[in-house]
Amino acid sequence: MENQRELAKYGEAAAGIRQVLLTSEQIQERIREMARAISEDYAGKNPLFVGVLKGVLFFMADLLRHLTIPAEVDFIAVTSYSPETRDKGFVRLVKDLETPIEGRHVLFVEDVIDTGLTLHYLLRTLRARNPASLEVCVLFDKPHHRLIDIPLRYKGFELPDQFVVGYGLDYRERFRHLPFVGVLEPEVLEGNKGR
Ligand code: IMP
Ligand code: MG
Repeated sequence: MENQRELAKYGEAAAGIRQVLLTSEQIQERIREMARAISEDYAGKNPLFVGVLKGVLFFMADLLRHLTIPAEVDFIAVTSYSPETRDKGFVRLVKDLETPIEGRHVLFVEDVIDTGLTLHYLLRTLRARNPASLEVCVLFDKPHHRLIDIPLRYKGFELPDQFVVGYGLDYRERFRHLPFVGVLEPEVLEGNKGR
């Protein structure tokens, strides 16, 4: 019921979404808990929060707003892969950090981890710069297609093996800005096949 109301509220922006998996309220409550844990663990460490554009935009903003410790933020960007073919290809850095991270306590913030390939590549790249510590904070974990095991220090939700959108996650750049997470109608995905 609550989930149906959430869909109806967003009208045309939510067209093509079959079902709400997580309401914005559920997401926000979990993020508050994560921020509390991080604030305790990183007290006195002036952590640097590093996010991957663009998907992490909303999570990063909401997480940082609930911190009770000083923190800095920076972003990187990588080339993405096509979700239909699951063709991971190569991960390539298209925007690097502006902050030097040697000796810093770095918390890597990601919206979603699927195969783990993106995160694996990025962690390797950052580790080579000798941070004092490097941990991962991920909001959505999709463990079913994991190819590389990556320790997740903070984890928001485990998601089923489905392509989801909203709260930062897009399908061809659509649906990112919705405050909830939902599953697409199969026609939306199929309608684009072969394009
Ligand atoms: P990985 O390299 O397979 O872990 O993929 C991580 C990236 O794939 C994320 O940063 C997203 O851009 C994308 N991704 C994986 N699953 C989904 C999904 O269900 N919806 C939208 N994007 C996804
Ligand atoms: Mg992402």
